Amino acid sequence: KASPRMREVTSCLIKHLHDFAREIELTVDEWSEGVALINWAGQMSTDRRNEGQLVCDVLGLESLVDEITYKKAAEAADFATQSAILGPFFRHDHPFRNKGDTITFDTPEDAQVTYMHGVVRDAKTKKPLAGATLDVWQASTNGLYEQQDEKQVDHNLRGKFKTDENGEYAWYCIRPTPYPIPFDGPAGKLLQLLDRHPYRPAHIHLIVMQEGFKPITTQIFDKDSKYLDDDSVFAVKDSLVVEFVPRKDDPKAQFELKYDIEMAPN
Ligand code: DHB
Ligand code: FE
Repeated sequence: KASPRMREVTSCLIKHLHDFAREIELTVDEWSEGVALINWAGQMSTDRRNEGQLVCDVLGLESLVDEITYKKAAEAADFATQSAILGPFFRHDHPFRNKGDTITFDTPEDAQVTYMHGVVRDAKTKKPLAGATLDVWQASTNGLYEQQDEKQVDHNLRGKFKTDENGEYAWYCIRPTPYPIPFDGPAGKLLQLLDRHPYRPAHIHLIVMQEGFKPITTQIFDKDSKYLDDDSVFAVKDSLVVEFVPRKDDPKAQFELKYDIEMAPN
């Protein structure tokens, strides 16, 4: 039995598709090109490449639904950490690591290792939250996530951590660098049609969860990165821009990033 909500969503989509075709006076040839693009995206997709999502992302659709879904949370943004899009490179099977562990294995020569740490708090009471989980994932300096790159070990640059009894988390990661989203498929073709570049600013992905609180899917962005003003997938929000500072007296890291997270109660 169809859900009333899905029926409403589908009917509304049809209405707007028809309006779009009428407005632009879409021809049969142009419509066929669109069909070919959808089929191409399907053919390109594997469990390592989610081309459908990439296509949506260059169209700004994932960012828009993020904004719509978390509008309430954003209105409370002066108290809770803002969300950002999930993107296509999350994996559900991140291994648990211990506080202070590294997520960088076979660290490339040009990488700048960063000690990232902070406190997860209840946004309302400001009390630290013990036992919150954080998923973290990032691309390597060649712009590739581990599942896109045969040379990286499984689960390189990703992990799952828990906050300690003081609500603190910590890990070693790399300072992220800007890179292009995969542009050899339909998402790239759309960018080309629109005269747009495929680059994303340097970012780290996070998902933070704790019982009794709204989960947060987000990304943080290096304030010194290029492309903060023209992210190819429109994910940047001012409150998510962070500063990497030089780290002193730590042979394991050149940079430090302190980042506290505030969670809204359910
Ligand atoms: C997209 C998101 C990412 O975080 C990324 O690294 C590459 C692509 C995307 O939204 O398509
Ligand atoms: Fe990413």
